[in-house]
Amino acid sequence: MKTLVVANWKCNPTTLKEAKQLFNLVKRGAGKIKKTEVVICPPFIYLTILKRAPAFAKSYGGLAFGSQDCFWEKSGAYTGEISPAMLKDLGCQYVIVGHSERRRYFEETEEIINKKLKAVLETKINPILCIGETQEERKQEKTESVLRNQITSGLKGVSAVKFSKITIAYEPVWAVGTGNPCNVEEAQKMGLLIRKIISESYNSKTAKNLRILYGGSVNSKNAAGYIKEARLQGLLVGGASLNAKEFIKIVETVT
Ligand code: PGA
Repeated sequence: MKTLVVANWKCNPTTLKEAKQLFNLVKRGAGKIKKTEVVICPPFIYLTILKRAPAFAKSYGGLAFGSQDCFWEKSGAYTGEISPAMLKDLGCQYVIVGHSERRRYFEETEEIINKKLKAVLETKINPILCIGETQEERKQEKTESVLRNQITSGLKGVSAVKFSKITIAYEPVWAVGTGNPCNVEEAQKMGLLIRKIISESYNSKTAKNLRILYGGSVNSKNAAGYIKEARLQGLLVGGASLNAKEFIKIVETVT
């Protein structure tokens, strides 16, 4: 299984010009690294342009595209929404589902996240399900129950046969965008806990083959530890993915 490095640009950058520049730099530096799978998740509008504009479409380097979110219906009267079918048509291979910022600022519930995840799977795109506890929940020793609930609710009604497409990203909320990353030992422990939960809910083979990512203040200095020491299968990178040099370094250190 290849290591997966996902760039989550979030609501950045503010101009198309900057988005093109960032994409071109990343493509030049990280696109040629074939041993690691690199996925870029830009805002929807840039995604269309970077994926489809002839200037880019001829060569993405080795980069794949993902989306930061999606809607759960295929089409219809849902103002402002983007469906998995549209993303599939565009050539998107991944969709991030249940990111902590979606949960926090857009009040996405476990039920909504589950609907989105199932819609993504039905469209035959790979969902990346984000889970993680808040600082408060960790202090109250609720981490295990929070992760268990997010996993079982998020994956409700999903059969083991669908698992080859699913990736789970452990993103402790207290580490996302704070400059305070989870240490390697703890990330490893959480990875094992996630596998244990999947093994109990499904079976040990499904748990063993599951790809688990770490996300939360990843940079070029701490990236390798999560892969080489914590033995996780990839990274979800926010802030550092907006700096082409830093992001390319991250990809290089985990390859
Ligand atoms: P961060 O974001 O790397 O800026 O902490 C990670 C994420 O939100 O996926």
